[in-house]
Amino acid sequence: MLAIDTDPQGNLTNSFLRDGEKTPGVERLLDPSTDADVHGLIRRTQYPTIDIIPANSAVVRFDLSDQRAWEKADLHRSFVEPVNELRDRYDLIVFDCPPRLSLTSFAALCASDFVIVPLEAADWGAQGIMQVTAAIDYVRSRFNRRLQLLGYLVSRFKRRRAYQQSYLNQLRSHFGASTFDTVIPDLAQFERSVTDAVLLTEHATTSPAARIAREFFDETLRRFRRLGLHATGGIGP
Ligand SMILES: Nc1ncnc2c1ncn2[C@@H]1O[C@H](COP(=O)(O)OP(=O)(O)OP(=O)(O)O)[C@@H](O)[C@H]1O
Ligand SMILES: [Mg+2]
Repeated sequence: MLAIDTDPQGNLTNSFLRDGEKTPGVERLLDPSTDADVHGLIRRTQYPTIDIIPANSAVVRFDLSDQRAWEKADLHRSFVEPVNELRDRYDLIVFDCPPRLSLTSFAALCASDFVIVPLEAADWGAQGIMQVTAAIDYVRSRFNRRLQLLGYLVSRFKRRRAYQQSYLNQLRSHFGASTFDTVIPDLAQFERSVTDAVLLTEHATTSPAARIAREFFDETLRRFRRLGLHATGGIGP
């Protein structure tokens, strides 16, 4: 798979690369003054099945907030050609988006076939989910008819908190099958995995967290198939 980090915080990048390896990165694809070769931005990681295009703080300069300005300059299409060039090379291309709905998130939606919306089961997530859903509908109707919602994914779930359980129930009754059956619980092991920059499924193979990660991936594949993706075809981003 290829992971494309678009968040200037670069958390995903930090999990895989050392300091000297983080530039140039995804900012080159957003820079209207250059015609970057996407192949030159790809880094190998210590895992033979995972490549990454890094993000670093340089993205901030190009991650515009003014939607009219970026649409006028066609910048929302920045990732379309690069992804099309790479489709045949990977089974899976995944964008990690920043939390705010700025140019990079729209550009990722324009270049993707599917979108997963992760959220926490808390009230402050409610407004965010409506904005993200509206952005998905907007991109689908204006720029990318292939784009399909793969599902809302609840993460950092705290089972013992009654309000989290009731939020999850509300989400399920409102969005129905669009909510992933898999719920990612709040587990120290996920945190440790990020801090130590190790893959759970390799380094804590039998842990509950690794089991849930696999469950999530299995459900993701089932959802790809349900939405009409054939197992033999390339899996788009
Ligand atoms: N299910 C979980 N259980 C416990 N800790 C978690 C879980 N998911 C994430 N974390 C912790 O929270 C931190 C942030 O998680 P993550 O990067 O997935 O969130 P994010 O929503 O992408 O954050 P940001 O909005 O800053 O990009 C991680 O570094 C990890 O330590
Ligand atoms: Mg993030």
